[in-house]
Amino acid sequence: MIEFENKENSAEVGAEIDESIQGQPMMVAPLSNGSKKLYLESYGCQMNFADSEVVASILSENGYSTTRNIDEADVILMNTCSIRDNAEQRVRNKLSQHNKRKKQNPELIIGILGCMAERLKKDLLEQEKLVDLVAGPDAYRELPSLIQEVETGQKAVNVLLSREETYADIAPVRLGKGGVTAFISIMRGCDNMCSFCVVPFTRGRERSRDPESIVAEAKDLFANGYREVTLLGQNVDSYHWNITKKGDVIDSEKPVVNFARLMELVAQVDPKLRVRFSTSHPKDMTDEVLGVMAKYHNICKYIHLPIQSGNDEILKKMNRGYTSEWYMNRIKAIKRIVPEAYISTDIITGFCGETEEQHQDTMKLMQEVGYEFAYMFFYSERPKTLAARKFEDDIPLEVKKRRLNEVQDLQHNLAFDAHQRTVGKICEVLIEGVSKRSKDHLFGRNSQNVTVILPRENYKPGDYVNVMVDEFTSATVSGSVVK
Ligand code: 5AD
Ligand code: SF4
Repeated sequence: MIEFENKENSAEVGAEIDESIQGQPMMVAPLSNGSKKLYLESYGCQMNFADSEVVASILSENGYSTTRNIDEADVILMNTCSIRDNAEQRVRNKLSQHNKRKKQNPELIIGILGCMAERLKKDLLEQEKLVDLVAGPDAYRELPSLIQEVETGQKAVNVLLSREETYADIAPVRLGKGGVTAFISIMRGCDNMCSFCVVPFTRGRERSRDPESIVAEAKDLFANGYREVTLLGQNVDSYHWNITKKGDVIDSEKPVVNFARLMELVAQVDPKLRVRFSTSHPKDMTDEVLGVMAKYHNICKYIHLPIQSGNDEILKKMNRGYTSEWYMNRIKAIKRIVPEAYISTDIITGFCGETEEQHQDTMKLMQEVGYEFAYMFFYSERPKTLAARKFEDDIPLEVKKRRLNEVQDLQHNLAFDAHQRTVGKICEVLIEGVSKRSKDHLFGRNSQNVTVILPRENYKPGDYVNVMVDEFTSATVSGSVVK
């Protein structure tokens, strides 16, 4: 799961993400139909953003149009994240600002969606009285009736988690800018129970979405001018349809679809539709998936493979289900089967009991892999998780932060080296929009997910161009179009 957030205890090196996403809640684009106005903010991971598109779709069917102007909102919904404590603090701060607004306009409805809904329903609704409505990740179909309940003067809540809900039949309303790249959610929930992670508690059990609806969504996006889809799941490698996790076929009359096959089906929609995916799990990533990546030019050569720690004892305490040796074997498989792929990772510093040597093991592994990107965080204990129940959160904050700085510095250098290696090379770039720094330049990404800046000329978002790279920083590369 890649997150948009880039706050105090997290950092991203190498990846350039749209300013409106990074560090800011994602505000949605206006929708025209409907008389009542919905102001929707999305925090946290890509999955939350994809969910907000489902929410916008459900509510647009019920007379709501979205607005970017909070002053005209009848309903404010915040799609929240619980992954680390500071993510929750940000939402709480924003929530008190929204409540000031409600004092002036008592009719205003304020609701919480997503992971915090599940985790904090009682506190937010009953004790702190900060919200009127709470809906968990599997309850979005109920939103119209929950809003109605609030309109009749009651507080409304539904945080039931489902084993089936995938919102497969709902056509998300595309809220991102640009109209070139989109997310497609292929599964929900997570069964892994990594000891530090709150996600299995907030988003429930893993379930896969019907492949036909996924391919139909990809086709529809392509027909509407989109040129890149990212298949989203907490652990995409365990996507399974008509087949059990053990590999037994459920109905021999129907096709079996695992992640490799699903990716192939989406890649076949059109050679001009790029396919990305996130997130892979080292214990489940198969050579079959890598083989499909190698076979299709339009499957991007980029893998996000979170390691979390380079030390086996810590990995065991994290309940990650692999050792550093297993992980390095997966890296070797990537380098053998998809040699041009760039690899990124997630790192947590200062997990319970982590010694200086164990921290050094993480640094060594990072160097050995030579990651092109990394998302790095210091450990934040989450209530209910295995780690919170079993281990002491005993690493002082300043040590966690110092170790985070060390891995960030190292990653900065690794990304710099990676970008240096691209100088003089030609890469295919899908143009996404106008550069933030200069209106005479465009930006896009190459297959390896590196942001590339190029002169605007007459190109437009959605165009594929070949760029010869001549300059770089640790965050981006730039060059000119080769005709
Ligand atoms: N503290 C710090 N980082 C965490 N992550 C998940 N839970 C925690 C936590 N409690 C990080 C992991 C995961 C990424 C999405 O967020 O690195 O891969
Ligand atoms: Fe959390 Fe682990 Fe599932 Fe990722 S794979 S969502 S880190 S439990």
